[in-house]
Amino acid sequence: MRLRGLPLAYLTLLSVFVLLPTISAQGVGESSPLGSGDAAWLSYQPVRSETVFPGGVPDTVVQLGVSLLEDSSAKELAAGWRGMLQHEPRVIHADVGDGRKVVLGTQREIELWSTHASATKSLAHDAFRIYRDKNALVIEGGDDRGVLYGTFALLREIAEQHSTANLDQSSTPWAAIRWTNEWDNPNGTIERGYAGPSIFFEGGKVRADLSRAAAYARLLSSVGIDGCTINNVNADLSLLRPENLREIARIADVFRPYGVRLSLSVDMSSPEVLGGLKTFDPLDPVVATWWKAKVDEIYAVIPDFGGVVIKADSEGRVGPSKYGRTQSDAANVVARALKSHGGVVMYRGFVYNNHLDWHDLKADRARAGYDTFHPLDGKFDDNVIVQIKNGPIDFQVREPVSPLLAGLPKTNEAIELQVTQEYTGQQRHLVYLVPMWKETLDTDMRGSAAAAPLPVKLLVSGRATGTEQHSEGGFVGVSNVGTDGWLGNPLALANLYGFGRLAWNPNLEAATISDEWTRLTFGNDEQVRSTINKLQLDSWQIYESYTGPLGIGTLTDIVGAHFGPGIESAERNGWGQWIRADGHGVGMDRTVVTGTGYIGQYPAPLAATYESLATCPDDLLLFMHHVPYTYRLHSGLTVMQFIDNTHYWGAHAAAQQVPAWEALRGKLPDATYAEVLKRLKYQAGSAIVWRDAVTRWFTKQSGVPDALGRVNHYPNRIEAESMKLSDYTIVDVNPWETTSGGKAVICDRPECKAETTWDGPDGWYDVAVQYFDLLHGHSQFTLTIAGHNVGHWTADDTLPGDTPNGSTSTRRSLDRVAIHHGDLIQVTGWPDGTEKAPLDYLSIAPAARTGIVVNGIR
Ligand code: GCU
Repeated sequence: MRLRGLPLAYLTLLSVFVLLPTISAQGVGESSPLGSGDAAWLSYQPVRSETVFPGGVPDTVVQLGVSLLEDSSAKELAAGWRGMLQHEPRVIHADVGDGRKVVLGTQREIELWSTHASATKSLAHDAFRIYRDKNALVIEGGDDRGVLYGTFALLREIAEQHSTANLDQSSTPWAAIRWTNEWDNPNGTIERGYAGPSIFFEGGKVRADLSRAAAYARLLSSVGIDGCTINNVNADLSLLRPENLREIARIADVFRPYGVRLSLSVDMSSPEVLGGLKTFDPLDPVVATWWKAKVDEIYAVIPDFGGVVIKADSEGRVGPSKYGRTQSDAANVVARALKSHGGVVMYRGFVYNNHLDWHDLKADRARAGYDTFHPLDGKFDDNVIVQIKNGPIDFQVREPVSPLLAGLPKTNEAIELQVTQEYTGQQRHLVYLVPMWKETLDTDMRGSAAAAPLPVKLLVSGRATGTEQHSEGGFVGVSNVGTDGWLGNPLALANLYGFGRLAWNPNLEAATISDEWTRLTFGNDEQVRSTINKLQLDSWQIYESYTGPLGIGTLTDIVGAHFGPGIESAERNGWGQWIRADGHGVGMDRTVVTGTGYIGQYPAPLAATYESLATCPDDLLLFMHHVPYTYRLHSGLTVMQFIDNTHYWGAHAAAQQVPAWEALRGKLPDATYAEVLKRLKYQAGSAIVWRDAVTRWFTKQSGVPDALGRVNHYPNRIEAESMKLSDYTIVDVNPWETTSGGKAVICDRPECKAETTWDGPDGWYDVAVQYFDLLHGHSQFTLTIAGHNVGHWTADDTLPGDTPNGSTSTRRSLDRVAIHHGDLIQVTGWPDGTEKAPLDYLSIAPAARTGIVVNGIR
């Protein structure tokens, strides 16, 4: 028999080589700023200068004012000129002559510079206008921070290769508060951070080298973010000690040139624990005095301190309830200490009881925010902003808008969005979150059908009409950047960029933001742009398809790392992320008529939409209602068939992302290309784990078989437990649905083997070894086919968890391997410590791709 004209002997020889590492094509030079990952979207790659400046590139920067921020603006312009236009401009402070120049200054400075220049009506704080005045390109700011934001806006125009010939762009930020929260701990770890250690802290101290913190402030400022809270909302109280505050002041120093104000998370018990008082009762005058003195002490070392973030009465953090006081009592005592300094309290609306009774069908965590805060509306001081997560639970793959956002008409509020992908794949899965955020921000929360629309973005702007909103509002992004390329996955940086752009202007489209980010990061190549934009824009839907369907929640292990599937972990505990799946149906009944009454917290028109099965959107169905598995969606599919179909589609779509990315080989910096490819390949395998876990679990629970016969039938799969095992032992896995057959094999000896004889036809096959790579331990594996070693690898990834399950399940994939009928296929495992070279299954499927493979190069 011959395959594609090649003799079998030759095929056997090829199979030995197919696993050699692929030789990567020479891409954009490693000298690219992206080589280090630090430049991110400020990569300043060369553009066609004649397109951008048809009349010639300005060679002079006139910096009219003397300020840190204007210095930064001039420096940034020079960097942009060097990178994009290959030109070194001279920076001067007094205008001379009529040559081509960029003039930057505040409105006041521009007025003094030239009486005819400014036709600008009064610019607000942080606002800017960029326009032409004869030979000058003018960047005019409402204040010097506006000058810096205008500078970055001009550099964006240049990076996108737009002509500046008739440029006239004015921009004012949507809301005053545009902050990130970083959940960093003094020991250098980051809660829910997925990109290495902290850029601020190390070993209990502020880092000696704060160059990354400075670089981060520059990135933040380039998208208009003006505040950064540097420590975990689960705050370490010791940070408020005088010696630590002096160190933290060094971080504020490196933020300052970029107009980013530093803030801290604080714990309500500080007066007692740190101050040695007998109480932290917010209504006790001694406590108020303590906060006042502490805040004064902070301002003495950080004069532009932004304020504090407070998490209280939540997830084990103490709070005012200890003394029978309210959340507004707690917020106000700190706010009054901050008031004279111009600081604010960001008081988190994430207050709930995590010891709810699962047996109580009326209990509902989703109600907690509104139930707690709505009665306090109007009782918060005017420098308190209630910081509210986009959804009522906790950053799931899909949630409805938090009803609390419409429940505080007399209170300042900000929306909290999560940039770090805690429940959305932890940056190992590609999920561009901007479309999700847009859906929330655009949701209309008007109180009556007759009233004008009241989208969430207006509610958080600080200037909602038709309500009695106070004048502060904004956006908080939980970003949790680390030292590993900020967010680990180069493509995840679009979320940080997108958060900033939306906070500045929530009317921007998700596609526009993706395209901007792509061009700024990777240049203007058409194929690069269209490929990356498509990957980004499809990614949320793909991830949702193979994880939690129909608004049920992500279905991840909520009591573990929040990463792999763990469906039952949602049930039978006090956390309240319940899915209420029984033998008949699934979903939380949150209706007013028969359920928890949660839906009644929404303004009437929205409540009516959600209450009725006829109008509740399919994608929120299981959040709002408990329905039988046979219930027909608006699409006509039953709930079960929808679950099966979307999970199979999602895993297929995740796999397609790999060849889409591979088409960009050679067009991107090598390191970036390789890093993303590695993650997309991991995701493709993980999506299969998710697909199988969710479909098998619901099939078992519902007793409804997949109409297309896919679930529980895996024709190309050989379970490890069914192979001939030498020294490997079979173990049950928990949760059972996260491994194929509910079982795995582990090696308790120095070396173990699992083998099988191929009983299929001769041919080319795609082979995958599904194994478990625990956080600790570096097991090794070898795959041999017909005695040839076709792969040897070490399980050295850092997947979260130390047991074999869906969080640690991963695969080694080998494309187009030649296998003959009767070949012996052997996996050998060498354990390391507690990682016992665990195996799940082998997949041997007819090769998907055509073409000859020689030494791994197609
Ligand atoms: C989630 C997250 C916690 C975090 C909390 C919060 O529950 O898992 O790590 O502390 O949100 O937002 O406060």
